[in-house]
Amino acid sequence: MHTTFSGDFLLGAATAAHQVEGNNTKSDLWAMEHMVHTSFEEPSGIACDHYHRYPEDIKLMKQAGLTCYRFSIEWARVEPEEGVFDKKEISHYRDVIRCCKENGIEPVVTLHHFSSPKWLITKGGWEADTTPEDFAAYVRVLMKELGSELSWICTINEANMGLQVAEIAERYKKQMMAKMQRSGQDSSVQMGMNLEKMMQQQKEAAKETLEVFGTPKCENFTSPRTEHGDEIVQRAHILARKVIRELAPQAKVGLTLSLHDVQALPGGEEFAAGIWEREFLRYLPIMQEDDFLGVQNYTRSVYDQNGLCTVPEGTECTQMGYEFYPEGLGHVLRRVAQDFHKDLFVTENGIATEDDSRRIAYLSRALSGVQDCIRDGLPVRGYTYWSLLDNFEWQKGYSMKFGLIAVDRKTMERTPKESLSYLGSYAGGRA
Ligand code: BGC
Repeated sequence: MHTTFSGDFLLGAATAAHQVEGNNTKSDLWAMEHMVHTSFEEPSGIACDHYHRYPEDIKLMKQAGLTCYRFSIEWARVEPEEGVFDKKEISHYRDVIRCCKENGIEPVVTLHHFSSPKWLITKGGWEADTTPEDFAAYVRVLMKELGSELSWICTINEANMGLQVAEIAERYKKQMMAKMQRSGQDSSVQMGMNLEKMMQQQKEAAKETLEVFGTPKCENFTSPRTEHGDEIVQRAHILARKVIRELAPQAKVGLTLSLHDVQALPGGEEFAAGIWEREFLRYLPIMQEDDFLGVQNYTRSVYDQNGLCTVPEGTECTQMGYEFYPEGLGHVLRRVAQDFHKDLFVTENGIATEDDSRRIAYLSRALSGVQDCIRDGLPVRGYTYWSLLDNFEWQKGYSMKFGLIAVDRKTMERTPKESLSYLGSYAGGRA
């Protein structure tokens, strides 16, 4: 039998509004999901209908013994048109917070989790100089209304995501070029033909984007980010924190980062150091005045002299294609603690699998890593598994099963998996 966490350790699960609530009709992603040139497998639709079924979901967490719930507030609901704030939607989130508290669950609230209001994208989205102020204006309204009820606030989920996406897009482009060359498509005619077709498709997509968003390029939060866009995200965090300090001084504030356990094989040290710099170290300056860092880890990435290594054949992988590597979490916590000396909170960690026994195995090894860190004196204050429910995994749709609770896509019926009570068995005060 494993040991439990101490009574004040926050143990729970996480979701994000767009992935679970349903009908997020004023958001950028909703519009993108319904475009002809969409990269989404399917639209989010009613998602898990969590907007209406949150009391049942929160109750299931309580029954399992969990003590906190990380969820996000949807900017597009609260401010569906620029400067127009919807009191009814703010009340909805007040009700969610109240429901958590009535069930003895601490709300850990994220103010931005990937989706944005559609109007923000029309203004230039996450590359526009006006976005930090727009975000701060939304946060100001929220804090006036709900701030006093919150103890843990994440401003922006995975502030480093845009640069990671830019890196992946660049790598993918290089791989495609190499593939075309290998398959003999390197004569100017063949290349010319493919490029022509690609350009045509791009032109049509840009035309549709212009029709839908009023701008030919959709800069949503997870679009490949430029250096300038990254500064916009950083500034948005700083301004939001200022507002929170003013209106909700009791709350602990931080951002969250997507952090791979970056490892180097001989010869790969430089690549690995570069990635860690871009993924983590560059955000240290804006985190200096934060109270905590939200650590989000799913796997490791290994570098050799040629760059990122592919996962060796025969290695166990999750549905997402990531290496099954729960030890990554403990490694990342130790690594960030070398440079960031405040509280740490594991805001996401999890596995997509149809086989719940692999989820339990993952949890067991990941949580033992967290417990070792705490034993060694690291200030890890909480852990929220991703995700509470089988939900909308962005462009991949509903095929990825991250949840501790299964959701019947037709009836919306919830079926807790064994992993839910397994996670609960780690809660403080349990045997
Ligand atoms: C995001 C979640 C996502 C999860 C699993 C994280 O990057 O914050 O929204 O569902 O990873 O892919």
